[in-house]
Amino acid sequence: MEIIKTIRQLRQKLDVDRLSSHSIGLVPTMGALHEGHASLVTRSVQENDVTVVSVFVNPTQFNDQKDLQTYPRNLDADCTLLERLNATYVFAPEVEEMYPEPDTRHFSYPPVDIVMEGAFRPGHFNGVCQIVSKLFAAIMPDRAYFGEKDFQQIAVIRKMVDDLKFPLQICPCPIVREQDGLALSSRNALLSAEERRLAVNISRTLFISKDYSANHTVSQTRQFVTDTINVLPSLEVQYFDIVDGKSLQSVSSWEESEDIVGCITVFCGKKPIRLIDNIRYK
Ligand code: PAF
Repeated sequence: MEIIKTIRQLRQKLDVDRLSSHSIGLVPTMGALHEGHASLVTRSVQENDVTVVSVFVNPTQFNDQKDLQTYPRNLDADCTLLERLNATYVFAPEVEEMYPEPDTRHFSYPPVDIVMEGAFRPGHFNGVCQIVSKLFAAIMPDRAYFGEKDFQQIAVIRKMVDDLKFPLQICPCPIVREQDGLALSSRNALLSAEERRLAVNISRTLFISKDYSANHTVSQTRQFVTDTINVLPSLEVQYFDIVDGKSLQSVSSWEESEDIVGCITVFCGKKPIRLIDNIRYK
């Protein structure tokens, strides 16, 4: 495994791979890797000759500077894990490498990027599209792997890929959970022991809501999830919506679509740590 810091060096390596008709998988990450990332890398290694894992905490997708500063970083531990997983290249550029000039491009994919995360984190998806488009242009992967925990992110990136005609396949990978159900997230590392104990109620409530949804309306199910979590100490739902899995627009009945997902964001603890999760109802 090689650790590469510049686009130029990475391109040189990948050009050689392409000459040998090697397929290239990309796993874009912001580091602080966990088993969720490991599942993406494992899949890429299985499906491609070469796997590039980018490790870059992208400043343009943070609308909160404190969140950017406290985002966990540990490149050494990340590289140890990636070596074990047989990644081919770790691309870990500095900010100046990815943004030699401020990125003034504006990506806009309504309605998928203006609801939920888009509404509560203005500019977030613009930043995600800025960095992901730069990574796609630099690496030109055949396949790119994203975790379904960031369900909306995948929908926005699909729109960008269609828009810019990137010749690659987006490969969504299932959420990986702790044994008790908590969705794996780099942010879990920031939870205190008590917050971690409470955080499990997010996934637990989503799982229960699936049974609940069998004999309740969409709006009752929305209310059930929000109320069940909000009565718990240290947890506050920022939003919970039940949406069509493609358009990400709220649905009002279970019959409205064949593809229905509940997406939630919860603040946990005093700092607070922002945790997201989702569940498929149909
Ligand atoms: O999902 C993430 O970790 C980030 O949003 C991504 C896709 C690596 C872009 O910075």
